[in-house]
Amino acid sequence: MKTRKILITSALPYANGPIHIGHMVEYIQTDIWARFQRLRGNECYYVCADDTHGTPIMLRAQQEGITPEQLIARIGEEHQRDFAGFKVGFDNYYSTHSDENRYFAEFIYKAARDNGHIEKRTIRQAYDEQAKMFLPDRFIKGECPRCGAADQYGDNCEVCGATYSPTDLKNAVSAISGTKPVEKETEHYFFKLGHFEAFLREFLSSGAVQKEIANKQMEWFESDNGLSDWDVSRDAPYWGFKIPDTDDKYFYVWLDAPIGYLASFKNLCNRTGLDFDAFWQPGSDAEVYHFIGKDIAYFHTLFWPALLHGAGFRTPTAVNCHGFLTVNGTKMSKSRGTFIQAESYLKHLNPEWLRYYFASKLSNGVDDIDLNLEDFVARVNSDLVGKVVNIASRCAGFINKRFDNKLAEALPDAALYQEFSDASERIAELYETRRYNQAMREIMALADKANQYVDEQKPWVLAKDPERLSDVQTVCTQGINMFRAIITYLKPVLPQLAADAESFLNAGELDWNSISQPLLTQEIATFKALMTRVEPAMVEAMLEDNKQAIPAPTEVAKPTGPLVDDPISPVIEYGDFAKIDLRIAKIIKAEHVKGADKLVQLTLDLGGATRNVFAGIKSAYDPADLEGRLTVMVANLAPRKMRFGVSEGMVLAAGPGGKDLFILTPDNGATPGMRVK
Ligand code: MSP
Ligand code: ZN
Repeated sequence: MKTRKILITSALPYANGPIHIGHMVEYIQTDIWARFQRLRGNECYYVCADDTHGTPIMLRAQQEGITPEQLIARIGEEHQRDFAGFKVGFDNYYSTHSDENRYFAEFIYKAARDNGHIEKRTIRQAYDEQAKMFLPDRFIKGECPRCGAADQYGDNCEVCGATYSPTDLKNAVSAISGTKPVEKETEHYFFKLGHFEAFLREFLSSGAVQKEIANKQMEWFESDNGLSDWDVSRDAPYWGFKIPDTDDKYFYVWLDAPIGYLASFKNLCNRTGLDFDAFWQPGSDAEVYHFIGKDIAYFHTLFWPALLHGAGFRTPTAVNCHGFLTVNGTKMSKSRGTFIQAESYLKHLNPEWLRYYFASKLSNGVDDIDLNLEDFVARVNSDLVGKVVNIASRCAGFINKRFDNKLAEALPDAALYQEFSDASERIAELYETRRYNQAMREIMALADKANQYVDEQKPWVLAKDPERLSDVQTVCTQGINMFRAIITYLKPVLPQLAADAESFLNAGELDWNSISQPLLTQEIATFKALMTRVEPAMVEAMLEDNKQAIPAPTEVAKPTGPLVDDPISPVIEYGDFAKIDLRIAKIIKAEHVKGADKLVQLTLDLGGATRNVFAGIKSAYDPADLEGRLTVMVANLAPRKMRFGVSEGMVLAAGPGGKDLFILTPDNGATPGMRVK
């Protein structure tokens, strides 16, 4: 078979924080694919880098009193440590703050500019006069224009979910200096994405992008303004690359971020003598794949191919999108302690457990995947320990002790082994198309078959019968060969387990093609336990440790659900609620109010004090029916002067209105004046 030349990338993690297990979905998905390609004998390079520019990194360095260079060097090391911990095998891990990246960013920008795809325009933007800088949306905070919640950032409200323009925020202040921003004019550089519409239509319908993602991007073409211009510049001070032929304009971080793919690969080429152009010239027979999360599809399926095309590079063979990770069915959350850092995981748990668990969940679609921690424990123990490793541990001892480590000369059930070998192309196709979940199912079905064989042959019974001793050797040889095929199929997912199995089998590296020939007459090594069980206590310890690493935010968790999206139900803190003095009240008098079609006038007994309250419940209650009843009132509401007199409180009623309006009715035993807790 012809070997393919393949370049693979994962999105460049932002050098602003640690790697968490959500990120790991992507790096594990990509690494499995890269390892699979190598195992099949293809020429394959997997590159990545830290995404190091932008305002948040600049400000964080300032806060820590270090230079941005120092910050990104430190975070870069942490990222690489975590990736290595999860056995993600990059061929090159680089940084967007590099000479190669500056070169390609300028090159691509100049190509766009010189071909008329860059337009200069003056825009108005919020400016912090004290910090002397323009403010990105997320650095402006104020009160939500819809629900009034304080301290809301940028363009959406965390409390009520409203979206708006940062200029709509009430009492807006700069998150940097706390001062009120002013609007100021500034000249920006825009990339005319619309010039690439025809090209992008073709790219999106070429099969390079999953259908669900492609369709979503196509909607932009149909929107009223078509494809919008993309603002690729930022004003100084900014942490990034200066735009050529300007004094104080910088490339927006998202311009040079994907260019980091080229830069990292170029750096690899410089180190190893690989031919960069052979991969990136139009018409190249090499394949280029980007793996990304669905949140950044817009950048990768519109801007990025347009920029490449505009500068005379080839475009990616495919952009592979995945969904987001949830933990125990909900978004990862700091307050629930499920925002699990890679580092915390690695301190307590075997990285291959997570690699296998993700593989068993990942498909080629963009659905979110869930890490259910109970299911994680159960699945790893049942599949990897209970099924896969078990095959070897049931057979190895006999070969080691009774046969001088030597495998038999022939398999007793060649047809059964053939089934294992025949599965190879089917499983390869599942890996190739990123249907890892189905691949894992096929492989586990083989593991079941192998265990069933050992169950039926019962080598431990045969071993007691001196006449059948040679059968023990052949049965165990059969078992170990089925184990060997399974481990080869799992090698992209479980590189460490595969390496340990290779030492045990003692016959060199397993590769996809070696399965077609069984391992016979081979002297194997002494079997050592290949994998231990996950104990729920380990998961608990990991979560506990993670809580220490990421203290839960002090603010109370935001409630969710339909009521909170309701603009008339802004979230209040418990302290606000506790201020309400609710009391049992006895309605001692209820009367019509002349000239008011909604109100009933109530005289309420609070056990000593009486209150006069006008209540809007006439549509639902006849005053005569109310007299003598107990209800609940807000007793400390400031008196309010109404047209008909002063109202000294409020009775609680619920319901959509009209006839369906209900005052609260306390049970027997309540007495007027009782405080309601
Ligand atoms: N720096 C940009 C990418 C630039 S690529 C030229 C970025 N960085 S990130 O650190 O926020 O995310 C890196 C990758 O991890 C993205 O593909 C993102 O989708 C993925 N994930 C981050 N959180 C995730 C989950 N909770 N679940 C799955 N993937 C997630 O975006
Ligand atoms: Zn709001």
